[in-house]
Amino acid sequence: MPSPVPAHPPLRVAVLGCGVVGTEVVRLLTTQASDLASRVGAPLELVGIAVRDVETERDAVVDRALLTADAESLVERADVVVEVMGGIEPARSLLLRAVAGGASVVTANKALLAQDGPTLYAAADEAGVDVYFEAAVAGAIPIVRPVRESLAGDRVTRVLGIVNGTTNYVLDKMASEGLDLDQAVKEAQALGYAEADPTADVEGYDAAAKAAILASLAFHTRVSIEDVSREGITSLTADDVLWAQRTGYVLKLLAIAERGTADGVEGVQVRVHPALVPVSHPLATVRGAYNAVFIEAEAAGELMFYGRGAGGEPTASAVLGDVVSVARHRVLGGKGPIESRYADLPVLPATSARTRFQVRLEVADRPGVLAQVSTVLASHDVSIEAVRQTPVTELPDADYARLVITTHAAPEHALRSTVEAIAGLDVVRRVVSVLRVEGA
Ligand code: NDP
Ligand code: HSE
Repeated sequence: MPSPVPAHPPLRVAVLGCGVVGTEVVRLLTTQASDLASRVGAPLELVGIAVRDVETERDAVVDRALLTADAESLVERADVVVEVMGGIEPARSLLLRAVAGGASVVTANKALLAQDGPTLYAAADEAGVDVYFEAAVAGAIPIVRPVRESLAGDRVTRVLGIVNGTTNYVLDKMASEGLDLDQAVKEAQALGYAEADPTADVEGYDAAAKAAILASLAFHTRVSIEDVSREGITSLTADDVLWAQRTGYVLKLLAIAERGTADGVEGVQVRVHPALVPVSHPLATVRGAYNAVFIEAEAAGELMFYGRGAGGEPTASAVLGDVVSVARHRVLGGKGPIESRYADLPVLPATSARTRFQVRLEVADRPGVLAQVSTVLASHDVSIEAVRQTPVTELPDADYARLVITTHAAPEHALRSTVEAIAGLDVVRRVVSVLRVEGA
């Protein structure tokens, strides 16, 4: 049966960017036009696609007549502007221009939102238009809407997630196929998961941007990317990946935002770093470019959101969901949520976070060594959960042993001073690695 023809005049949609995500957005707008019109209550008319180079070869679904290098003019003749070009400028100026002209905007640009989202939110609020950004965090996974709408009546205490598909893909390939980091990054780029500059992925900037966005929503507080303590995966070695497996863990790049206390002050801690996750934990099963976000809230308890976190099609799904929402508002009236920052919690230093650690050492293989190491830990008030000593069997002449110590939760600053003191012991040949343990 044909869909009923909506009575509302068409809504003009401009798409800024026609790369990995933009192409799939254009595909859905084109191939799903009739269904989208029925869902919105008005046809969505694609009026232009802004790109850097109009001569570049494009997917056949892209009508070349719609391509333009003049993004400024394009945003002025749109009711809905979809920004999937990335970067800070000209994306920021274009979105502000769109909003000032009365257009609703949808963006997948987490880097921009985490750096200067509040300027855009304030401009949109003043203009009475929507800013939607579901695709900016965790690709296809509905997470922005659940945090800012479904959990608006609850008190979130912690958000723990794998929010970068590229690094999850890379760590997974290192563990399962023994690929080195560079090889695995190249594969992630070829599959369209990585940012234009993959440093943003492997150094944790992309995950930090997403952590800032999630923390802002979950804790009703402005958190920018500068507030996020960040460590990427580039210092991880094949040996770290191997030892994680041997000791019952999987290495993951985690984004963590939680309520905490430092010097008696309550606030939020937001950090991104690699962590050992026990194989029994659901996050350990997240493979490839998939993402997952765990949320702990006082009334809801634990919630987990899982799905494809990167790539053109999954991301376009989230973008189109937002397009339908903002377009419906234009047809039916109303507006989506605006920035909520009433709680205004201080962002606490990440060194105040309490975490479990796994410390790997090479130590002299003789009696009394363990006692010396344990004494240092105890004198810094760091409690040991487990110790495992293994001989270096692959080197018959080796006069040292490997020691893997897992601690109970301790403040990060205490652990750092402990490791420094351990490294200074005569019996310690080398501190091989210090990794946080999460999700236990
Ligand atoms: P791409 O690099 O594949 O595409 C970027 C597009 O934007 C290209 O078409 C490019 O034009 C155009 N563009 C860039 N700069 C300009 C400019 N100054 N003026 C006009 N057009 C410009 O990026 P992605 O599609 O991968 O990512 C787009 C956005 O989506 C980013 O914000 C990214 O963080 C986000 N995102 C990406 C995901 C992914 O899996 N790839 C997932 C979730 C979010 P041209 O083609 O001519 O070079
Ligand atoms: N580069 C990002 C990632 C894209 O790998 O997760 C999705 O935001």
